[in-house]
Amino acid sequence: MGKLDFIYARHSVRKFTDQQVPKEDLITILQAAAQAPSGKNLQNWHYVVITNPEKILGVVEVIKQKNAELAEKIRDEKLKKKFTATLRFQTFIKNAPVLILVYAGPYEPTAVDVLEHIGASSEEIHALYKSAPGIQNIGAGIENLMLAAADMGYGTCWMTGPNYAAQEITKYVGMDKEGYYFAAMTPLGVPEEGQLTSPPRKAVEEIVTFIE
Ligand SMILES: Cc1cc2nc3c(=O)[nH]c(=O)nc-3n(C[C@H](O)[C@H](O)[C@H](O)COP(=O)(O)O)c2cc1C
Repeated sequence: MGKLDFIYARHSVRKFTDQQVPKEDLITILQAAAQAPSGKNLQNWHYVVITNPEKILGVVEVIKQKNAELAEKIRDEKLKKKFTATLRFQTFIKNAPVLILVYAGPYEPTAVDVLEHIGASSEEIHALYKSAPGIQNIGAGIENLMLAAADMGYGTCWMTGPNYAAQEITKYVGMDKEGYYFAAMTPLGVPEEGQLTSPPRKAVEEIVTFIE
């Protein structure tokens, strides 16, 4: 193992073998997710882990139905084609042995109460929410989860494409935790051969400004 290999071992995986994932491995991976940093250590996350194949297929059906329902209302053919063409990037989870739904709980950015107290404008308060610290916590949790999974030989794929079906998915799985909303999902399983590739990245010089 070389330096930082665990980072480069993670790729979005969209095809899985039918090998089952032992519960101990899932617990280890979720423990890594739980270890993520969060603002004020609020840990405003909740993971719904589905290993029941019928339930996973049920989630896929919910997404398909919502996609069809929305598509039917689209009057612009080009938009309709674009929208329905993305469906396969939301339904490939059907062949995964595990599906993890990620929920975000409430989080008030630091100083919202102060700005309210001093009568700041709604634009100023909105600006604080724009950097979405609450959802940054969730991102940290998901990334930990995925890096741990990759390190243990499992594939995942961060997904927000199906979020337009968030309400229906939540109802279908019976997730009911006060103030929590659906943020993302990931399948998890042993990658099928040829799945460990990723598209190229921007050069560091392009994405970094050094102030020396
Ligand atoms: C917030 C987020 C949402 C994503 N949503 C989807 C998705 O709905 N479906 C999908 O197939 N991939 C999705 N991806 C995966 C990206 O396409 C992928 O991370 C990117 O192409 C880089 O490839 P890599 O993950 O293999 O490095 C998502 C990634 C992120 C971070």
